[in-house]
Amino acid sequence: MIEQSMPQFIAGKPSLKYTFFGGKGGVGKTVLAGTAALWLAQSGKRTLLASTNPVHSLTSMLDQDVFGQPTAVSGAPNLWAYEIDTRETIEKSKVEIQEKIEWFLKFADIKTRAEEFVESATMNPAFEESAMFENMIDIMFKDEYEAYVFDTAPTANARRLLGMSSVYGMWVNKMMQSREEAQSLREMLSFRKKKKQKDPLMEYLVNFRERMENAKELLTDDSKTAFFFITLPEALPIAVIKRFIAWFHDFGIPVGGVVVNMLIDKATVSDGAPEFVRNRVAMQDEYMEEIWRSFPDVRAIVPLFETEVRGLEMLGRAAEHMFA
Ligand SMILES: Nc1ncnc2c1ncn2[C@@H]1O[C@H](COP(=O)(O)OP(=O)(O)OP(=O)(O)O)[C@@H](O)[C@H]1O
Ligand SMILES: [Mg+2]
Repeated sequence: MIEQSMPQFIAGKPSLKYTFFGGKGGVGKTVLAGTAALWLAQSGKRTLLASTNPVHSLTSMLDQDVFGQPTAVSGAPNLWAYEIDTRETIEKSKVEIQEKIEWFLKFADIKTRAEEFVESATMNPAFEESAMFENMIDIMFKDEYEAYVFDTAPTANARRLLGMSSVYGMWVNKMMQSREEAQSLREMLSFRKKKKQKDPLMEYLVNFRERMENAKELLTDDSKTAFFFITLPEALPIAVIKRFIAWFHDFGIPVGGVVVNMLIDKATVSDGAPEFVRNRVAMQDEYMEEIWRSFPDVRAIVPLFETEVRGLEMLGRAAEHMFA
């Protein structure tokens, strides 16, 4: 009872470029992002599969070292994979912030060490999350690929940052206004009529505001972007994506649809199968009914395979189901 399948959905969006996969832990985000990326690459698009997962998930799934830089996947023309180095990204971001603060202190003639500010600005998980989010946005803006598949939607982030972006905008405007006032006051008071200094903090603020606006534009453009949500026929993963989808609708972020993973193929289960298998099948049956009731946009159902999904051959098998 799939109304619009994955290939139909994609065919209906010729300029679709950014796809994201979200869902509860362990439901198959990495596997299905890989599956989608392989399929897109095979359809002729220069494709980047990117992961912000801290663990070496892509490297182990592809059985090839793709850590730290976009790497051509051997055996898959058009496909590159990139496991983002979280530590490096966060460190780089800290150094940038430190520079900004030092510039600012110097510009404002404040004789305080920057370190204290830097510590308080960067010692929290929200800083790390937004460093990763900004990194992802930079990858999107670099525009070196025709299709981007992000393993693990930055769900909380996208939601928080997009919700915040209008607040950011206001905040930056306010900051800029007071900076301009301070600047002209400085010039009026200055005896040594020195030439107007470049203001790096101001430049940074303007640039930041612009990037947030662009990010919002990309992430909410339903011709270019789609967030897919993965669930299993089980209570918790269903509850999790119901919540995600509601948030995304609230923020106008385009939802591409739902993919059900790890459904047991009933044809392989005989009456003589062990009780726990038959129970599982009955349980999945019930949750499938809930899935059909709750999600009008189921795009694909991927069966539970006999082993974990690793290597291009297995991904190809998953693609036959995901893009049936
Ligand atoms: N359809 C399937 N059949 C069999 N095994 C599967 C299937 N889908 C995923 N798996 C396996 O389930 C495990 C979890 O999958 P995966 O790592 O893709 O989940 P994830 O959502 O990315 O997890 P995390 O939240 O930890 O990042 C992996 O071992 C994977 O190979
Ligand atoms: Mg994963």
